[in-house]
Amino acid sequence: MSAVSRKKRLSVTDIRARKGGDPLVCLTAYTAPVALILDERMDVLLVGDSLGMVVYGMDDTLAVSLDMMIAHGRAVVRATKASFVLVDLPFGSYEESPAQAFRSASRLMAESGCQAVKLEGGVEMAETIAFLTARGVPVMGHIGLMPQSVHATGGFRAQGLSQHEAERIAADADAVAEAGAFAVVIEGTSEPLARRLTERLSIPTIGIGASPACDGQILVTDDLLGLFSDFTPKFVKRYAEIGDAIAAAADAYAEDVRMRDFPSLAHCYGVPKDR
Ligand code: KIV
Repeated sequence: MSAVSRKKRLSVTDIRARKGGDPLVCLTAYTAPVALILDERMDVLLVGDSLGMVVYGMDDTLAVSLDMMIAHGRAVVRATKASFVLVDLPFGSYEESPAQAFRSASRLMAESGCQAVKLEGGVEMAETIAFLTARGVPVMGHIGLMPQSVHATGGFRAQGLSQHEAERIAADADAVAEAGAFAVVIEGTSEPLARRLTERLSIPTIGIGASPACDGQILVTDDLLGLFSDFTPKFVKRYAEIGDAIAAAADAYAEDVRMRDFPSLAHCYGVPKDR
């Protein structure tokens, strides 16, 4: 089955209820046309701050602003009616204090219309997650490989492969769940750790490079479509080569224009009937 028919959007309650059930199918979306195609095919659409890299050509996600996330969030919400839409809090918009996080999250929700926010961090963000959830902001956590911390951790590399790191990530998972997050993304970690966390947490785990043991899966849409090829992580499976299709279409158009084959009379206004 490729598309599902839903009368209304999935809610936080629906997402929570999928713990241990049918896998949650999630992708990123940043623009209205892509969100429209994905809407009834996905359970969750994440307006991820990965848009800094895949849409804006940045080297990492750190320079993404709250205004950018609001603008893209609003486009995705407008284009959809069935999937659960959440938006990332970007770097620098929430780490300083719970009050700063609430100001950013409330703007993000009010101005984009999204249903929840996602933020990176474990033990150190637990107080903030509790503060937000107590004030009506549903929060999805994000632990393991945290792209907003690439400069602190030494690059985009798998986390939790040593016993010591695995215990730190397990403590992060517990802290995020106890603080009230409704689900947690686990990125770039080992299969045994992802399995252990999925078995012991009462909230859904959504894996990206974290094995099929998780309660759901997410990928960056541009990665699976073959649209973003600056860097392809080991955990990405390419389902299409849209980049090649765009290049072929552009070449064909350029050739037609150069040969004066486009536009043809069929594409012109006011052409006399006898031509
Ligand atoms: O920004 C993003 O797209 C994400 C996913 C990779 C989970 O956080």
